[in-house]
Amino acid sequence: MAETILVTGGAGYIGSHTVLELLETSHRVVVLDNFSNSHPKSLEVVKELTGQAFPVYVGDVRDKGLLEQIFQKEEVTGVIHFAGFKAVGESSQIPLAYYDNNLVGLLHLLEVMQSVGCRNLIFSSSATVYGDPQELPLTETAPLSVTNPYGRTKLMGEEILRDLFAADGSWNLVILRYFNPIGAHPSGRLGEHPQGIPSNLVPYITQVACGLRDHVRVFGDNYATPDGTGVRDYIHIQDLSRGHVAAMKRWATGSGLSVYNLGTGQGYSVLEMIRGLSQTAGQEIPYQIYSRRPGDIAACYADPTKAREELGWEAQLGLEEMCRHAWKWQRLNPNGFQD
Ligand code: NAD
Ligand code: UFG
Repeated sequence: MAETILVTGGAGYIGSHTVLELLETSHRVVVLDNFSNSHPKSLEVVKELTGQAFPVYVGDVRDKGLLEQIFQKEEVTGVIHFAGFKAVGESSQIPLAYYDNNLVGLLHLLEVMQSVGCRNLIFSSSATVYGDPQELPLTETAPLSVTNPYGRTKLMGEEILRDLFAADGSWNLVILRYFNPIGAHPSGRLGEHPQGIPSNLVPYITQVACGLRDHVRVFGDNYATPDGTGVRDYIHIQDLSRGHVAAMKRWATGSGLSVYNLGTGQGYSVLEMIRGLSQTAGQEIPYQIYSRRPGDIAACYADPTKAREELGWEAQLGLEEMCRHAWKWQRLNPNGFQD
């Protein structure tokens, strides 16, 4: 029988691309989302692109009654848990909302999984749990530290899973630490549309390129990096989504708790990203140097060896595809899914 995967937060940026990848690799998918940071249209687009239908539950992952209903009705065999809040800056302004959504959501999900006997979980963590790295590239054994409430919810989420596995070794838990996902589906029909002013670099650059904003604000040019601007490991959203399907292999190996970096291993600076997108868009993208953004680090990129060796996964798409698909999505959907 085909596996049935519950995808919480399946309408969001990473969730919708992963649902598409799961359907294209012959998995049965059930989505739970409350659309607090997404639009139902993303799931309509996934249905159109794959030609496949799947159940969508509109509700909150903290609602245990709803979770119980879903597990009973859909015979869920594994869960990919994306649902949560993710804005670093906002998390310092409304920390309680972040702890509530990200941690109560995880706890209630685990409690229901325990009660129904479903032990397979993939958890969305983040490279933010490495704090300000002492050594690069980052391996999964690097020291962990966090500086903001969002990051703390991810680190606490990981700790909850480690405690759970220590208490009951029958679980199959996979923690994925994402680096910086960017880009969109090559069709230009599925992508990320941040609400308000984008806090992430690439959506901001593409909004400048299409005239929605004046210039890119480069936060700091005096870091200890080759050109002085911040360096990150940008990963194409399709590669990241494929990483989840690859990680599901761990579920077939009995039980365990494993952690993988999902990054490319290649760092690019802010100025390199602006140049890459300028080339793709065929126009100069104006920028100005600003002071450093509080809490930012100089450089962060992954050592992705473990995922390659144990999951047979590695990123395949480079900067050119990331820029091309990010720009196509922005150009075709200046208002996101509202159009
Ligand atoms: P997103 O906001 O696009 O998607 C999250 C989805 O979860 C949204 O559709 C939202 O409506 C839904 N949601 C939020 N709270 C919910 C709740 N209580 N019940 C049901 N649905 C709920 O974010 P994303 O970029 O797709 O991120 C997915 C996961 O990956 C998050 O856990 C995020 O913290 C993590 N992550 C993201 C990044 C990144 O740069 N995008 C990096 C590292 C980790
Ligand atoms: N930057 C600018 N101008 C902008 C936005 C960003 O110069 O308008 C710079 C930042 O200073 C940084 C780089 O571009 O050097 C990338 O910044 P992002 O905000 O796009 O990404 P971060 O690395 O700060 O954070 C992202 C996610 C976090 C996640 C982290 C690690 O937003 O949730 O990657 O995975 F934790």
